[in-house]
Order: sequence, then C-alpha cells, then structure tokens
Amino acid sequence: MSSDASSRLFDVAKRLMPGGVSSPVRAISPYPFYVSRAEGPRLWDVDGKQLIDYCLGYGPMILGHRHPEIMERVVRQLEQGWLYGTPSELEVRLAERIVDLYPSIDMLRFVNTGTEATMAAIRIARGYTGRDRIVKVEGGFHGAHDSVLVKAGSGATTLGIPDSLGVPKDTAKNTLQVPYNDLGAIEKVLTEFEGEVAAVIMEPVLGNIGPILPDAGYLEGVRKLTKDHDVILIFDEVITGFRLSLGGAQTHYGIVPDMTTLGKIIGGGFPIGVVGGKRELMEKVAPIGGIYQAGTFNGSPTSLAAGMATLDVLEKERILERLNSTGDDMRKALSQIVEDLGLNYSVVGIASTFKIFFGDAPKNYVEALSCDKAGYFAFFQRMLKSGIFLPPSQFETNFLSAAHSEDDINQTLEAYKSNLLG
Ligand SMILES: Cc1ncc(COP(=O)(O)O)c(C=O)c1O
Repeated sequence: MSSDASSRLFDVAKRLMPGGVSSPVRAISPYPFYVSRAEGPRLWDVDGKQLIDYCLGYGPMILGHRHPEIMERVVRQLEQGWLYGTPSELEVRLAERIVDLYPSIDMLRFVNTGTEATMAAIRIARGYTGRDRIVKVEGGFHGAHDSVLVKAGSGATTLGIPDSLGVPKDTAKNTLQVPYNDLGAIEKVLTEFEGEVAAVIMEPVLGNIGPILPDAGYLEGVRKLTKDHDVILIFDEVITGFRLSLGGAQTHYGIVPDMTTLGKIIGGGFPIGVVGGKRELMEKVAPIGGIYQAGTFNGSPTSLAAGMATLDVLEKERILERLNSTGDDMRKALSQIVEDLGLNYSVVGIASTFKIFFGDAPKNYVEALSCDKAGYFAFFQRMLKSGIFLPPSQFETNFLSAAHSEDDINQTLEAYKSNLLG
C-alpha cells in the first residue's frame, strides 16, 4: 500500500499522542492509515487509496458513511444551533422512541459515550441497592472506566492489558468475574456474595472478543438467577442495540433486563450514550433522586438529530431485515470458503455481524484467547493491501452496513479467498 502521507503523519503523531493515536485499537502496526474522507461503505486514505469498510467506526455507521438523510438532518440542526444548555424537543422525541422499543427502559438519560452510560448504570445500581460489588463477564468490554477495566475485551485484550494499571485495588476488588456461557459460575458468585452484589453487567452477545453467542437458555438462566438473588441485571447493548433488532438483543432473545445501556448506532455516528431502566431505578437519579449524573454535552442536539434520522431510515426502509439476511449470506459464503480451503477456522456472528476466528469457535474469553492472534493480524494486513478494511484485531467484531452492495461483498469474498491462506 502506498502510504507515504500516513507514515509521515504517524511520525509526528507519535511525538504528540501516546502511541500516536486517540484510542489504542487504532495504533495499527507499523502505522495506521489516515483517512481523508468516507462515503457509503468506503474510506479513502490520505494517499488516495480506497478501502471497503467493515469496521464502520466500530459499529455506529449501520447506514454507511455520509448517509444523505443523516447529513440533511444534522445540517438542519446545526442551522438551529448545536448546544443550548437547556432541554430540546429532540430529546423528548428520541426518548419516546427508545422507551417504545426497549422493554426494559421506562426512563432514560442521554449521555455522550457508551463508557459514560455503563459508568452511570453501575452507579445507579449501586446507589439503588446500597451494595458495592458488581459481577462482570470475562472479556466483556463496557468502556474505559475503573469498575469495568478488569479482564476487559476489545483493545484491552488485543494489547494484552485487560487489567489496566491505575485502577485502585479497592475498586477492582468489587468487580467479580464470571466466564460467559457458564450459569454455574454466576450462581456460585451470587451465592458466595449474597447480599453484596448490586448488579450483573453483561453484553448479551459478547461483542468485544467475538461475536460470541449465548448458548440456548443462558440469558434466560442469567435473568432467573439475578431475580432469585435480587440483583440488578444490566444489558450493555452498545453494540447489539438497534443492530440485532431495533429493540436490541433483549427483543431478539425475549429477555428483559432491569437496566440497559446503548450507544453507537443511536448517535448515527455522532457521540452518544444512553442509560435507561425501570422507573423505580431511574427515579433515584438526580435531580429527583440522590444518584448524581450530569454532563455539559448530555443530549447534544446534533447527536440526537443524527440518531433520530438513523432510526427513521432503519424503520422506514426496514433495513435490519435486509441487512440480517445479507449477514446470513455472508457467513454462509465465508464458511464455504473456509471449508474449501481446508482451514480449521470458524465463522461466527449474528444479524449483521461476522468474523472468522483463527481456531475453533469460542464459547468464552479463555477459549477466544487461544486463537491464532498473530495469524489473524497478518491476514488483516493482506486484506488491507487488497482494499478491505476489517477491524485490526482477532477480538473485534466485523460489521455490515446497508451501504455495502452485492458487488462490494463479492469483491470482499474474493479477497478472503486469496488472502486467507497467506
Ligand atoms: C459493549 C460496549 N459497551 C461500551 C462501550 C464503550 O462505548 P464508547 O466507546 O462509546 O465509550 C463499547 C465500545 O466499544 C462497547 O462495545
């Protein structure tokens, strides 16, 4: 790949920002490509190279880049101003839509990122129950704050630092870990710490070392155990929300948690997070309750306008049905390629997510760690040379958007055929 300009920019960036980047997973070795523009399913780097994008901003861009309706609605909003420091009608209207779609959400608060949403959800659960401990699933990623940076997935696993330095021991000790797809482990921990656990927080489909799907009965079992032990169940649907179905994984699987966090897609590519839950929990949040959460940019009008436009397009054009069936076709075609090449790799995914694991399909974090990370990264580099941008890690989900055409997908499948073997 001709990448002179990217390489030069990275040389400067390394002096100015840790690892040259603003978020660790972007530090692609030997240097990341710098993007100058994006359109539909494509990115163009500063050297003019075109790439078909399956990273899609790590999930939010479900309609592809620069979708005209989102552009128009955001521009219209900008013309009305973009920060008021008072409520706007948009937040009421979008809150109504989200409450209608998510069975677990009676009330919500708009925040700016998924990280802020899970941070608030955990504080609300702790404030409501008066308990300090939480249970988290190993390899689950809920953003970059202290309570959840313990055996965390995503970039933390990719870079081999799932337990971050700087997290106080007194905080980490309150985060108990269980393997995914293991009901016995949850039962054990909830029994051992009876009366001490505020919440179980989990991605219903493990997206940040996967996708890894729940075994039949697993989510039902988690719901039952959390009810039996009087513990709040938080589904972190920052990835699964508006992707598995408009009502997220909870609607897809028919399991209603007590609280939900959302992000990514519902900001239409602009920063957003949502923390929501049952009325009795959310009524404990300031200003009506004693659990504090606040933010200058909460309910940012541009993010809400982009989110509302995204939801309108998804609903109006019944995009998820089409996209989910494209996902099925993609996974089938990839499985065939893997089989034809005689590789012992696994194709995983659900709805419009997919990935090839370089090894057996994992059921949990420990199994995911045993796949061929280095082999995957070399493959990622070869795909990049072929004009296909997959997330640069074995532990990140690949996403499809409504903008990927049949031709784009066929070109991608050809690239898989020629690059999987090396
Ligand atoms: C499931 C999940 N929760 C939370 C987050 C954090 O969201 P953000 O990056 O918007 O802070 C992520 C980010 O990838 C995520 O995948």
